[in-house]
Formats: sequence, C-alpha cells, structure tokens
Amino acid sequence: MVICSADSMASSGSSGGSSKVWIAHGIVLGAAVVAGAYAAFYLRWSGGFRTRVVGIIPARFASSRFEGKPLVQILGKPMIQRTWERSKLATTLDHVVVATDDERIAECCRSFGADVIMTSESCRNGTERCNEALQKLVKKYDVVVNIQGDEPLIEPEIIDGVVKALQGAPDAVFSTAVTSLKPEDGADTNRVKCIVDNHGYAIYFSRGLIPYNKSGKVNPKFPYLLHLGIQSYDSKFLRIYPDLPPTPLQLEEDLEQLKVLENGYKMKVIKVDHDAHGVDTPRTSRRSKP
Ligand SMILES: *[C@@H]1O[C@H](CO)[C@@H](O)[C@H](O)[C@H]1NC(C)=O
Ligand SMILES: *[C@@H]1O[C@H](CO)[C@@H](O)[C@H](O)[C@H]1NC(C)=O
Repeated sequence: MVICSADSMASSGSSGGSSKVWIAHGIVLGAAVVAGAYAAFYLRWSGGFRTRVVGIIPARFASSRFEGKPLVQILGKPMIQRTWERSKLATTLDHVVVATDDERIAECCRSFGADVIMTSESCRNGTERCNEALQKLVKKYDVVVNIQGDEPLIEPEIIDGVVKALQGAPDAVFSTAVTSLKPEDGADTNRVKCIVDNHGYAIYFSRGLIPYNKSGKVNPKFPYLLHLGIQSYDSKFLRIYPDLPPTPLQLEEDLEQLKVLENGYKMKVIKVDHDAHGVDTPRTSRRSKP
C-alpha cells in the first residue's frame, strides 16, 4: 500500500512530494527496524522461554505385542505416516523427526518426506530414543515432545497444548495430557489414571483406580482422569531422565513417569477431549480391549 502511494507520487512528477514520501518511508523503515530489534532483544532478555521445540516420534519395528506396528496400513497409509502428518499440523513444533533403529521404518518415512534420525538398537525405551535423537540433531532445542508412533489420531492441538503447558510452567520439567476416563475402564490396568493438584500439577499416576471411593466401586459422578501417551520435556531434563535411577513406585506400578515425581520434579498436566484410539495389538484398539 505504501509502495503504491510512492509510485503514484513519483509518476505525478512532483519531485518535492516524492522526496517527502521517501523520508516518510525512511522513518517507517527505521521504526520497524527499531521495533524488530527491540522485540528480539526483549524476547531474549525475557528468557524467550523454551521457544525452540522439536517433535520426536520414536518408532521401533520389534514390539512384544505387535511386530512391525509402525508400518501397518491404516486406510491406505502406514500408521507412522498418519502420526507424522498429524504432528506436522502442530503450530508449536519447529521440527518433526522420526527416531528409529530400523531401516525398513527409516526408508518408509523418508519416502513420504519425513526427516529420520537413526538411533542405536540399545535404546531401551522411547524416552532413551528421544534423548539419543536430541543429541544427534544439529540444531539445539529447548523442548522435546515425545509423540508415540502408535497414536495415529493424535490431535495437533494436544501437541500444542503440552508444549504451551511446559512453556507456561517454568517450575515443571515435564508436561503431559489426560482425558476423561470412561467408568467401565476403571479396573483396566492398561489404562493409567492420574490425579492432579489445584494448579494442574501431577500428584500421582496409577494403574489402579485413583482416587478410590470407600464404596469400593467406581463413582459414576467422579471425573476420573486417563493418562494419554504424549509427553514433553525440558531438553535439559531429558538428558538426565533416562539415567535417573529407578524408584520404588515406578517399579511397583511399572510406570516410567513416576520416576519424575518420586525424584521431586514437577509435571504439568493438561486436560483435553480425546478418544484414545491408540493401537496396542493388531486386532484390538485400546478402547475395545476386553
Ligand atoms: C462414593 O461414591 C458414591 C457413588 O457411588 C458417592 O455417592 C459418594 O459421594 C462417593 N464418595 C464417598 C466419600 O462416599
Ligand atoms: C528407560 O529404560 C531404562 C532402562 O531400563 C530405565 O532406567 C529408565 O527408567 C526407562 N525410562 C526412562 C523414562 O528413562
């Protein structure tokens, strides 16, 4: 618009008018440069907190329950591709990569355009794989989102939600998401329950029903929370997380995330609407599991 007016002034042949416009341009440009520099300075000075974010999709071929799971076709596309496409829609991620130790998975992912980081076969779980991938990335990141490859229906808004939760909670090193637990899933030990404090920080996770009603039954009125697989970490914390020694509650419940709480770290939890359609075995989704 401004450029247009400069052209029309110049073509009108009024040299005086034209130079005024150029002076005006100079002032506008100068102001823009100052404002930009100030914004950049302000962001850096104010921490520009946890701004650089990478989404990592750890994927392995061998799974005790479902061999080759990431490559299984869902409505004509490999499951890992669906997860990747969903992740690419998240607005908070600067970069999305697949981390795998398997050439078949790597080849498939490259074919649909994903960046792949090869990780060693010695990674014992997804967290270790994310950590190794983070070390191998050329760019530095402040936040890592661990996006499970078996959640082909993950909503980009949930990814953005956990990232923003971590950015908004400097005292937390970890963030994750929960959704409403269906009462009939109360006794299912594969459904991990979560309880949070008034400020949305995790108090505890359990395979048992928490809280537990003295009637011994599921209270149909209580808003129980189901933990979803997605988690994001401060990248400094991710570096030490796999090396923190196992803790008693973590071992007893067989839940990695308890190690975070037992070591005294804070975890921010967001509540989302989500139908958990994760894929555990070839024939059943987690929802329909008997
Ligand atoms: C337990 O659950 C019942 C419904 O099953 C509910 O009426 C009651 O308020 C709950 N809490 C306690 C403390 O009993
Ligand atoms: C991953 O596996 C290692 C080795 O079994 C274990 O020490 C660690 O607690 C696991 N979980 C995480 C989050 O690192």
